[in-house]
Amino acid sequence: MLDSAQFINGPEVSDFERKFAAFCDAGFAVGVGNGTDALTLALKALEVGPGDEVVTTANTFIATAEAIAAVGATPVFVDVDPSHFNMTAEGLSAAITPKTRAAIPVHLYGQPAPMAEIMEVARRRSIKVIEDAAQAHGAEYNGKRVGGWGDVAAFSFYPAKNLGAYGDAGAVVTNDEELAATVRMLRDHGRTDKYLHEYVGVNSRLDTLQAAVLGVKLGHIEEWNEARRAVAAKYDAALGGFPWLTLPAHMPGGRHVYHLYVVRSGRREELRQHLSDSGIGVGIHYPVPLHLQPAFRSLGYGMGDFPVSERLAGSVLSIPMYPEVSEAQLDRVVQTIGSFDG
Ligand SMILES: Cc1ncc(COP(=O)(O)O)c(C=O)c1O
Repeated sequence: MLDSAQFINGPEVSDFERKFAAFCDAGFAVGVGNGTDALTLALKALEVGPGDEVVTTANTFIATAEAIAAVGATPVFVDVDPSHFNMTAEGLSAAITPKTRAAIPVHLYGQPAPMAEIMEVARRRSIKVIEDAAQAHGAEYNGKRVGGWGDVAAFSFYPAKNLGAYGDAGAVVTNDEELAATVRMLRDHGRTDKYLHEYVGVNSRLDTLQAAVLGVKLGHIEEWNEARRAVAAKYDAALGGFPWLTLPAHMPGGRHVYHLYVVRSGRREELRQHLSDSGIGVGIHYPVPLHLQPAFRSLGYGMGDFPVSERLAGSVLSIPMYPEVSEAQLDRVVQTIGSFDG
């Protein structure tokens, strides 16, 4: 790729797009600059804009709602299911108003949202669905890959994701050829020709260099996802004996790809400190739900609006999860958790 010097729109981009669409069992993938732009361009292509409401969960990374605000629409938050932490069809149904144009279910931590049920509500109520699959490359629900359930899906290839680039990158995935063509134009200044512009677009192309990296790494993703699932199964078996610790639930019919392995504890801060003091890297995804973020103050939500999301924010802890976790590392994590007086 470096020898050819086609840094923009090189052949590696369309090659990766083709392979990634096939990986998702979907018709089309369009590479973009990052996952946030993938969401924003998907919304733009669906012509979601000012005056429209878009339903999403309070328990996600801010990018999901940022994209809604970026197109001038209003984010409407719903609470999540207390076992799988994702949007439910019932929650979506209750939040739909005459202004609702779309919903963005998130496959949080690599666990699929109940897409069959969500799509049934969306079709019946005539709203569009954008899957936020940033954390869920290769996850499945009822045997079908995420990315092909909704009208369109957004993926992130941020380096730490299950499929990560060597910098920022993302993709829009869809079975709708026309929608894919619109996103393809929007990501590249709305171009139909070098100096002819059908839309006011943006510059959010997938770098050829990143596409080349992603094309190679895509060949390993199945094996890496299986390795993550094996690490999760070992954690499930080894940590099941601590009554003060709640382990991640498995969604019936779902294939979880464990972007994160998230436990819960009523004494999360102390447990976090205990693990950090032992040199074990942990994270909190996420400490502040979106309805309580200062950036969304103007939406008028307050404490108590989404109790499950609020409870999760105070109790979740992500413990080490990546394909290469060794037996010795896993044992040390388990022993260190076991030595915490829960
Ligand atoms: C759920 C979710 N949505 C969207 C994004 C945005 O992706 P990016 O960081 O590539 O813009 C991320 C990751 O950062 C994410 O975790």
